[in-house]
Amino acid sequence: MDLDHLPRHIAIIMDGNGRWAKRRGLPRTAGHKVGAEVFRTIATYCKDLGIDYLTVYAFSTENWKRPKDEVDTIMRLLKRYLLEAIDTMARDNIRLRFLGDLTELPQELQDLAARTNAISATLDGFQANICLNYGGRDEILRAARQFARECAAGERTPEQLDTALFERHLFSAGLPDPDLIIRPGGEKRVSNFLLWQCAYAEFIFTDTLWPDFKKEDLDAALLEYQHRQRRYGGI
Ligand code: IPE
Ligand code: IPE
Ligand code: MG
Repeated sequence: MDLDHLPRHIAIIMDGNGRWAKRRGLPRTAGHKVGAEVFRTIATYCKDLGIDYLTVYAFSTENWKRPKDEVDTIMRLLKRYLLEAIDTMARDNIRLRFLGDLTELPQELQDLAARTNAISATLDGFQANICLNYGGRDEILRAARQFARECAAGERTPEQLDTALFERHLFSAGLPDPDLIIRPGGEKRVSNFLLWQCAYAEFIFTDTLWPDFKKEDLDAALLEYQHRQRRYGGI
């Protein structure tokens, strides 16, 4: 692996927790627990490699369809993670940012997210973006609505809208696009993740289930990424 040519921004669809648990005769929630641990390990590894941004899909706008038990467990795990992050992120110089509509999450989680945001503002290191109640279509619709409102208020005209201005209205405002999107878990689809931002991302799909994902799996993805030729429509 060429450490001088790493992606600046990696995104991961953390999929396969439920199947991992089921194969072991465990409740799906056991897979989410291990999945949360794997996130910690991989985030630290990205930071140590010198990656600038890691964006993970933790809970989609569609995941509310799941049984209440499972949703509650995911929220509890997020809470536990944020409590721990509040204690360690300054020491580790890890910034956290959330993409998605947090207002529909439990109040306690919103408060913890606000606390991690405040700590992140004092740091300048590696940034982990956690997509929570995130949907790519929802993100684009919100941006369109916000821009329409600005036009209706006479602050903008439709002709002013270009890519850069539109991006300022997305949850991901200010972030570079992901260079590499990894989906473990065997499914080969985007499931409403970073629809706008993935325009020229390199995709890697792997059958490894997220709870089994190791640093070595990230190494393998990075190696494959480095063999890709990115043309952006050129030659
Ligand atoms: C991803 O794993 C975690 C979330 C979507 C919250 P899944 O829970 O989707 O696991 P599978 O795909 O059912 O195995
Ligand atoms: C995508 O996984 C969402 C997250 C990993 C948070 P899903 O398991 O929800 O996606 P589908 O249902 O297989 O498309
Ligand atoms: Mg899944």
